[in-house]
Amino acid sequence: MRLRAAVTAALTVLTATVVVTVASPPQRAEALDNGLTLTPPMGFNDWNAFGCDVSEKLIKDTADLFVAGGLKAAGYEYVNIDDCWMTHERDPNTGRLVPDPVKFPDGIDGTAEYVHARGLKLGIYEDAGTATCAGYPGSLGHEAVDAQTFADWGVDYLKYDNCNNAGSTTTEEYIARYSAMRDALASTGRPIVYSICEWGVNAPWTWAPEVGNLWRTTGDISDNWGSLKSIINQNKPLHPYAGPGAFNDPDMLEVGNGGMTDVEYRTHFALWAMMAAPLLIGTDLRRATPATMAILTNTELIAVDQDKLGKQARPIADAGGLTVFAKPLAGGDVAVALYNETDAPASIRTDAHSAGLPKAAGYLVRDLWQHSTAETAGTIAATVPAHGTAVYRVSVAGRDWRRHPPLTQLSATLPDAPVIAGQVLVEPGRPVTVRTAFVDDGRQPVRDAAATLTAPDGWSVAVKSSPVAPILPTGHTLKTRWKVTPPPGAAPGTYQLTAGAVYGWGTGKWGITSTIVPLLVAAPPPTGTTYLSDLAWLSASNAWGPVEKDMSNGETAPRDGHTITINGATYPKGLGTNAPSELDYYLGGTCTGLRADVGIDDEKDNSPANATFQIYTGSTLKADSGPMTSADPAKPLTADLTGAQTLRLVVTDNGTPDSDHADWAGIRITCS
Ligand code: GLA
Repeated sequence: MRLRAAVTAALTVLTATVVVTVASPPQRAEALDNGLTLTPPMGFNDWNAFGCDVSEKLIKDTADLFVAGGLKAAGYEYVNIDDCWMTHERDPNTGRLVPDPVKFPDGIDGTAEYVHARGLKLGIYEDAGTATCAGYPGSLGHEAVDAQTFADWGVDYLKYDNCNNAGSTTTEEYIARYSAMRDALASTGRPIVYSICEWGVNAPWTWAPEVGNLWRTTGDISDNWGSLKSIINQNKPLHPYAGPGAFNDPDMLEVGNGGMTDVEYRTHFALWAMMAAPLLIGTDLRRATPATMAILTNTELIAVDQDKLGKQARPIADAGGLTVFAKPLAGGDVAVALYNETDAPASIRTDAHSAGLPKAAGYLVRDLWQHSTAETAGTIAATVPAHGTAVYRVSVAGRDWRRHPPLTQLSATLPDAPVIAGQVLVEPGRPVTVRTAFVDDGRQPVRDAAATLTAPDGWSVAVKSSPVAPILPTGHTLKTRWKVTPPPGAAPGTYQLTAGAVYGWGTGKWGITSTIVPLLVAAPPPTGTTYLSDLAWLSASNAWGPVEKDMSNGETAPRDGHTITINGATYPKGLGTNAPSELDYYLGGTCTGLRADVGIDDEKDNSPANATFQIYTGSTLKADSGPMTSADPAKPLTADLTGAQTLRLVVTDNGTPDSDHADWAGIRITCS
């Protein structure tokens, strides 16, 4: 059996078809005319993985690995040195910058020679200020000598930073500082890519196209999902400003650095390619895993990034954390990405016409992660995992479209179950309804379609409506209802359902598997009155250190707080948090009421602490303390919990990030 692309199942089917309109598209300024970066630069920069620990050996090793590891062949060209390459003083006689002789025994010129000998190019870092971010001599006022030094050394690329910028704030001042180096580089006569790094402070997309080849649009990236998500959102609307020789730079790649999952790293790489971003590898290539290398050398995605139209993808639909990006490509194809920013798998659908392809009877959809091609009558849809991105090259189908299997999609939803942090809640021994939907989006029918659903050992799965369809014509869906029951003794924790479908097409049998419907087994609280500190929460987040049970929050290690005390009153029971904090509990519809005394702990007396306590059931606000300071006595809060499936305790910090030791003193619930 030939198995098609693995696709994960949906918990929530959300359709992202809202068209985003950009009010009066801004005009692109003419790009800096130095003939460079007609497509986004590709290469390496040491900063993300090594910080100040840069050296000639690292740069040379990386150049060697570009050749040996297939990266050069894939298009990576620039090996870039970031901050900390020089000594703290300029040469007193020449005024030139001096490479650190320990880190760069052969100097920058010797390093450049080595890199050039491998058919690659060398980049360097400086700063449009009095000192670099790490405190080495800056280029402000030394532009001519520094540009000439770089040119003499054989440097091919300059990243020009914004630290210690002599208090400059206005756009005019920024343009002046960055233009001085542009002109100095031009005067050397050497082609040097000019990368402006002012972190998006002064809307560089409005002026930098004429000054540099690319410009950072955001603050520094870091190796975590929150950072990646935020940078994508900041760079996403800037598509009108990108074009050959002038690109938005959402910062260097973190792929491979270990702080994100492979799903998140694939989103990172796919969206950088869609957004025509520079592809500057930021990981230690000497230790890169095969999974990292497979992402970095995905030549079909690199071709999207390097497409000669140089267009940045436009969000053509963007709602509820689900975004459809479309990037027109030379020759008429369009790259389409389905990006799921949410914490749960989701179905994302668009169509070829909305993506900018001409009206046609059919299209080919090339999956750029799976490297497989399917035909579609127009719909482009996938079930995308949490934080994931499906990405396709879509073209008008030629005569041979029947050679390709129809595009299919499988989703699974649990319509009646509550969802916490992307996980569906189920109870031991209690059946839940699961619906699977297998759709044929191709022009050709599929036959003998059969849906499957598998649960962990000991769980029961009963099919409640037909799981088979002898024939599934274009646009039709095989919908199946299932009843899934965890065993009565199922231990609390995370479990997975796997949905799948098999079908016939051509002479073969095909399959689409959909794993990961994450389920969280949770038991309702015991009957009677129970302190929440005696129950397990479903999820907890806290600004500093862990949430503490029966003590205040000590900010760092578990159990480092004190007896909960609010304005002199002490409480043996309760929860010690540090705002902003959020706690989720499962109630299962069995509870009636909640009581607590809330306030700022006395250990933060006379502090600027200011926090608001809120109680939600599902998304309904049931109680709100209003802003509380360290001077306030404990405030009693109560909430009616009748019928509620889940409870959420929220403390906001009202803009005071420090000292918000927020106690839910004596908090207890009554259930039957
Ligand atoms: C700034 C830049 C980073 C890096 C460091 C080096 O923070 O934005 O990319 O170059 O400086 O000090």
